[in-house]
Amino acid sequence: MKFFIDTANTDEIKDAVELGIMDGVTTNPSLVAKENRPIEEILLEICELVDGPVSAEVTATDHVHMVEEGLKLADLHDNICVKLPITRDGLKACVELTAEDIPTNMTLCFSPMQALLVAKAGATFVSPFVGRLDDIAQDGMKLIGDIIQMYNNYGFTTEVLVASIRNPIHVYQAAMLGADVATIPLSVIDMLLKHPLTDIGLEKFLADWDKTGQTI
Ligand code: E4P
Repeated sequence: MKFFIDTANTDEIKDAVELGIMDGVTTNPSLVAKENRPIEEILLEICELVDGPVSAEVTATDHVHMVEEGLKLADLHDNICVKLPITRDGLKACVELTAEDIPTNMTLCFSPMQALLVAKAGATFVSPFVGRLDDIAQDGMKLIGDIIQMYNNYGFTTEVLVASIRNPIHVYQAAMLGADVATIPLSVIDMLLKHPLTDIGLEKFLADWDKTGQTI
């Protein structure tokens, strides 16, 4: 399972990259807007930090300008993966960018049918938003299972990138279902590492060791 970090904040990315287990980054217009810096500067810095796909989202809504923006973003760095919303125009832009060998991440996916269409369009990744579905009392993880089964039925190669992750249970369930990628906020990555019994166990080991007076 690949781990991406879901942020446009380079300090958070550096922090996560230090762990040595990160495979990529996802950003979106809201995350980039929070940084208050030119998007090109942020993306270039991120691409130098992470050896893997860096999703950068277009903000145009018609397919001609989506492709134009996508080409501009892709020109910035080889790691850029163009993120497009799943709309009629987004789908067309996905087909056109795929024909140019530009990787795409189809975002704001909330139904298995949307996922089926983007796989047919040749998307590199599909991003189903589990947290936002859970927020409106719909089962986000059910969507992940449905998409994986559908893709397996037909051998689609589009990778299922679980997005809008809010807690460790989301990561656990995504892994149990065999999702290809989870894009995770830094706060949740930290939570994955934590277990109270690990802390208690370590404290006891070290206290016992101290009593021996030995060093290694
Ligand atoms: C992923 O690509 C999205 O940027 C992100 O996961 C959305 O998460 P949110 O629903 O917490 O905003």
